[in-house]
Amino acid sequence: MVDVILGLQWGDEGKGKIVDFFAKNYDVIARFQGGPNAGHTLYVNDKKVVLHQIPSGIFHEDKTNLIGNGVVLDAVTLKKECKAVAEFGVDYKKNLFISERAHLILPTHRALDKASELSKGNDKIGSTLKGIGPAYMDKTGRNGLRVGDLLDKNFTTQYIKLRLKHQRLLDNFNFQEDISAWEEEFFEALEFLREFKIVNGEYFINEKLNAGKKVLAEGAQGSMLDVDFGTFPFVTSSSTISAGVCTGLGVAPQKIKEVIGITKAYCTRVGSGPFPTELLDDKGDFLRNAGNEFGSTTGRPRRCGWIDLVALQFACMINGVTQIVMTKADILDGLEELQVCNSYLVNGEEKNYIPFQMNKVDLKAVYKAFKGWHTDISNVKDFSSMPQEMKTYISFLNDFLKVPVKYISNGPGRNQIVSA
Ligand code: GDP
Ligand code: IMO
Ligand code: MG
Repeated sequence: MVDVILGLQWGDEGKGKIVDFFAKNYDVIARFQGGPNAGHTLYVNDKKVVLHQIPSGIFHEDKTNLIGNGVVLDAVTLKKECKAVAEFGVDYKKNLFISERAHLILPTHRALDKASELSKGNDKIGSTLKGIGPAYMDKTGRNGLRVGDLLDKNFTTQYIKLRLKHQRLLDNFNFQEDISAWEEEFFEALEFLREFKIVNGEYFINEKLNAGKKVLAEGAQGSMLDVDFGTFPFVTSSSTISAGVCTGLGVAPQKIKEVIGITKAYCTRVGSGPFPTELLDDKGDFLRNAGNEFGSTTGRPRRCGWIDLVALQFACMINGVTQIVMTKADILDGLEELQVCNSYLVNGEEKNYIPFQMNKVDLKAVYKAFKGWHTDISNVKDFSSMPQEMKTYISFLNDFLKVPVKYISNGPGRNQIVSA
């Protein structure tokens, strides 16, 4: 049986914390897409850790963690992350497995990401510049190199061939930066990667499933950044939705049971692209400061706004969400009143769907106001002790989305979570 935890918004919903919380109930925790564009924050012994590629189950010593074939892997970042988790006593050599089919992010992918963004002028995607787009382009373009290729004696020849192709593209972009230092670091990190347990991920995971083991698939980014269903072209380059679990790990759809969708009690987005409920005023500043909304990977300030139920309903539909976890509810503690977007005005007409290109239509969010609870909920341990205003808010969400909010996260700490 496979359960999935994924983001329902534009990323940074608190997936890392929630995966770490649920990991105790599973045997295998597996990343199925994305790469080091992700930044998943966890607190271990009250110390903050940000994971980019290692699954968020790594701090549970009896759990197996798998980087699946759907991930694009940066060996340099992996080496740094392994060092960081080792400081917590994690034996990553024992607990971390990598699919041989995962594609490698090369230094030239990072350069191409940067060159592509620079060429876009004012139409930048706001990519994390980790080489994600170019690495997935080489995968679907059937040029990429995979982790399993590292064990092939012709790896360097293959690398040089691809490097030449990339150089021609970089020349077209007139990209001048010297990447030799990146390449040196990259080849060192490949030696580190070769020592890992590189496995056939699809057999590995299906054998576990056949033996009755429980798998938790950990999504990165969010549903509105999905390459097909997100706010294209302002999206990432992978399938961030539940369907991505099948192709990103090699599991059949019938194996998927619970799809646990994570949403913040409000909404954030980092990078460019449409964001109907964005607050460009002091309320937005309040959310950014109270919620410490600065990117875990890039440090960029996150754009902040009210929760968007039209987008959430869409995400529930596309993913088949069976339960919701609401995070950062404590950030709303300081508000007298909060707003919930429950429809859009598209070219003056009230709609409750996501238009083809949000940024090309005149779109305004329509809100319903709720009374804030205006109390500190960060130490509340059970739902019955939550303020009535919060219960009203949750009850409205349940009715609107027709998917129950099952947990409310009321702080970044490992134990700050309340069952609803
Ligand atoms: P992810 O990418 O979805 O894993 O989310 P990030 O780690 O990028 O961003 C979520 C941020 O919110 C992190 O700094 C978490 O420590 C923090 N966080 C998660 N849940 C809560 C919560 O319920 N309350 C508060 N105050 N912070 C939270
Ligand atoms: P986690 O897993 C938030 C955004 C970037 C940019 C767009 C494309 O921590 O939630 P990319 O580098 O993927 O080509 O960038 O996607 N983005 C994220 N935003 N959280 C993330 O990951 C993100 N990963 C990518 O800001 O707008
Ligand atoms: Mg993040």
